[in-house]
Amino acid sequence: LHNIDKGWRGTPIDELNRMPQCAPSLPYLKAMPNHTVTVRTDILREGKGIFPYPTKFKDAWDDVSVKMPCSEKNLFPVETEDGGGVQSRWELIQTALKGGLKSSLDVRDAILRYNTAHAKRWDFTALNLLCTEYLEHCEVQHLFDYILPAMVDLALKVRDLCTMPIPLLKSGMNHSLTLSQEQIASLLANAFFCTFPRRNSRKSEYGNYPEINFYRLFEGSSPKKIEKLKTLLCYFRRVTENKSKGLVTFTRQTLNSPPNWESSQTQLTQLHITCEGTIEEDGYGMLQVDFANMFVGGGVTGHGLVQEEIRFLINPELIVSRLFTEALEYNECLIITGTEQYSKYSGYAESYKWMDSYNDETPRDDWQRRCTEIVAIDALKYRNYLDQFAPEKMTRELNKAYCGFFRNNINNKHLSAVATGNWGCGAFGGDTRLKALIQLMAAAEAGRDVAYFTFGDAQLMRDVYEMHSFLTEKQITVGQLYSFLNQYSNVVCKNCLTSRPEVNLYSFISDKVSSLTPTNAPDSPKDSG
Ligand code: AR6
Repeated sequence: LHNIDKGWRGTPIDELNRMPQCAPSLPYLKAMPNHTVTVRTDILREGKGIFPYPTKFKDAWDDVSVKMPCSEKNLFPVETEDGGGVQSRWELIQTALKGGLKSSLDVRDAILRYNTAHAKRWDFTALNLLCTEYLEHCEVQHLFDYILPAMVDLALKVRDLCTMPIPLLKSGMNHSLTLSQEQIASLLANAFFCTFPRRNSRKSEYGNYPEINFYRLFEGSSPKKIEKLKTLLCYFRRVTENKSKGLVTFTRQTLNSPPNWESSQTQLTQLHITCEGTIEEDGYGMLQVDFANMFVGGGVTGHGLVQEEIRFLINPELIVSRLFTEALEYNECLIITGTEQYSKYSGYAESYKWMDSYNDETPRDDWQRRCTEIVAIDALKYRNYLDQFAPEKMTRELNKAYCGFFRNNINNKHLSAVATGNWGCGAFGGDTRLKALIQLMAAAEAGRDVAYFTFGDAQLMRDVYEMHSFLTEKQITVGQLYSFLNQYSNVVCKNCLTSRPEVNLYSFISDKVSSLTPTNAPDSPKDSG
């Protein structure tokens, strides 16, 4: 049989559910004990625009809220004649940033005025190189005449825009936070100017949070940094030219009672698998997987530039999650609904290039959010190939994926398909065939179909497709599959003396299925009797 020369297998992608078509109707947006909304919902409902709530800045300097740069408690030690004293750091920030930024050195000097402790360590080479070597003269001029002054205004407006304390999404919490895109832009402008207090040292109270201040982005002379800066400056240009008029929701979801995988009677759902295209482009309207770090965004403000970091760069509103999302635990994920794409890119990792501004026309839902749902799930990182077949590791990954895919109280017909790919199989060293199965099982248990992007790997596409069709045809349940995985671990991997097992996972499973005795084999004629 000659294979049709197409770049995909399985269910045609257009037969899978996407938002907004499959969406259930949303209740009115309103604040709840488990949902913080930082804008006026009554006015939003009437379609009259988005306004911060409450009207006046409410200061909070406690361990359940983000410590804001504009807080009165944000103080700075100063030498005075009668010994030591303190000064408002926010005043210092305002003075430093309003002093006029005419060159990259001015930007450095301004940032260091309120971050004096780091003056020796922070390095602004990349920012400098961008302005002196990489941008055209007119682009540099536009940056200093328009974009940066507008960014300063946006950053200093944070006290009027983000008036409600922003709750920290701490581990163990099931909590949502809805912010406006304008509030996010202001917070990110503050991140760019490194104004967030207590966030410059891993040893501080925020040690279990991702980095938010952008200082590492300016450091070094790698061309990757230049491209990252170009991508983010495109975002800042866009949001300072035109106010974005929508909302974004960040939901931390904790899975307290994982499925009993062993006894699951669920069968696999539909699969579309392709070696062409990407999650973000071809998986529009689906639940798009972010191949995350436990510190969401991973190395986006530092050196990283793979799937997660690229997504955070082209949809920069994702970056603000780093301000308030504590490191994800083994049973947690972060779901982000409503971010917008502002840039087009080409390449990947070392070859990544910012290409152009991107005009995102994704429709908005009734809460004024773009119908783009992204879920951050962090796989385990493996140094030794065989480790990942340990039953407790496979179960951990199943639960993590399930936590990301599962939605409480939503009928399956309203769930979009999962758009995913080689989760955990690049920087984290996992096996694509195992991870594909794990994700198929988790998606099935959560009642969702899967669109799988193999990122150019045609062999993987064929193998996963064949395995999936075979398992579907034989009506194998998730529970049976779980048991085959454990058998593979015990029979093939446990006593394996080489670094790679002798029998590969898919042939092992095929053999197991084929040898099921006719009495317990589920492959008897389907409609007999
Ligand atoms: N669409 C579909 N598949 C993709 C895409 C895309 N846009 N981009 C990459 N792939 P990786 P990990 C495929 O290494 O192993 C970050 O630093 C491609 O085959 O990003 O889970 C995080 O912050 C690639 O090899 O994910 C974590 O620290 C594979 O997906 C860490 O990396 C895996 O992408 C996570 O590493």
